[in-house]
Amino acid sequence: MIHSRIIATGSYLPGEPVTNDDLVARGIDTSDQWIVERTGIRSRHLAADGVSCSELAEAASRRAIEAADVDPATIDLIIVATSTPDFIFPSSAALLQARLGIRNAGAAFDVQAVCSGFAYALTVADKFIRSGSHKRALVVGAEVFSRILDWKDRATCVLFGDGAGAVIVEAAERPGVLASAIHADGSYNPILCVPGTVSGGTVIGDPFLRMDGQAVFKFAVRVLGDVAHEVLEDAGLSTDDVDWLIPHQANIRILQATAKRLGVSMDRVVTTVDQHGNTSAASIPLALDLAVRDGRIRGGSRVLLEGVGGGFTWGAVLLSM
Ligand code: UT7
Repeated sequence: MIHSRIIATGSYLPGEPVTNDDLVARGIDTSDQWIVERTGIRSRHLAADGVSCSELAEAASRRAIEAADVDPATIDLIIVATSTPDFIFPSSAALLQARLGIRNAGAAFDVQAVCSGFAYALTVADKFIRSGSHKRALVVGAEVFSRILDWKDRATCVLFGDGAGAVIVEAAERPGVLASAIHADGSYNPILCVPGTVSGGTVIGDPFLRMDGQAVFKFAVRVLGDVAHEVLEDAGLSTDDVDWLIPHQANIRILQATAKRLGVSMDRVVTTVDQHGNTSAASIPLALDLAVRDGRIRGGSRVLLEGVGGGFTWGAVLLSM
């Protein structure tokens, strides 16, 4: 039986950290105290003008490829989770394939599930690999959310950041992905969306992220708890069997409420929201790479990743590293 497992991770954050006080200095009507108390965010990274999603994805991917010590030409599947692609088309995954110099190498496509994007993309890669159709996948979450923020809307612009995380997943005899589940309920689309588009060369509607923060908060805590139980039950395991929980990094209060619901203490939760803000599809692979590189997550660690985001979408992946 074919399984899939993560053999290496990588990540990339653009530029220097931008603190809450830096945002105040830029004229945003907020304070370090409000942002820290309500969200736990202290700083985030913002890509310079002209830096694209595929550029961040390339930097993270090169680190993962180096850590895996594999020839990029052997990668036969590239999936980029993003809601802030370089262009309407081609996909950021195809652009990433070109940036990495991989030619005629199987499939490359984007997955658009906003902050659940990485859980979706990893689930798709696992299914491709277990089907036997592909052997080595590069799965990336990459975002330049700063491009879709209304910098006059203090209720949203302070929350997000830019970055990318990547993993190499390959066919293996020992299971790495133990269970996964992905879900959607499109009827919740109005509470978190970018309600505009480009048509006939003109922006139609509102091109910025809009959110009902409190509705999102409640929804997120409920589904993050439910989907964690779903994958654990599927694998025949309990929360006590999980070494590290990596929820999507939206707000420290959402992480704390989710951990409490699951009966997991915060010292088993990888937390980056204080330093990265909410990087949407990039937040989980960024946190995973950090905890792999600082030695918290090692070979054999059991890790539960879970995301929730616009759509609404949500999902979880239970891993043995
Ligand atoms: O990936 C998923 C994406 N999103 C999320 O996960 C977000 C989920 N929601 C949240 O994290 C929280 O709802 C927020 C952090 C967005 C907001 O926190 P809250 O405790 O729900 O605050 P609120 O929206 O109820 O606003 C409270 C007050 C308001 O003032 P009044 O009406 O009480 O006078 C806001 O105008 O805080 C004010 N406020 C701010 N003040 C200073 C809103 N944003 C700011 C700000 N700085 N940046």
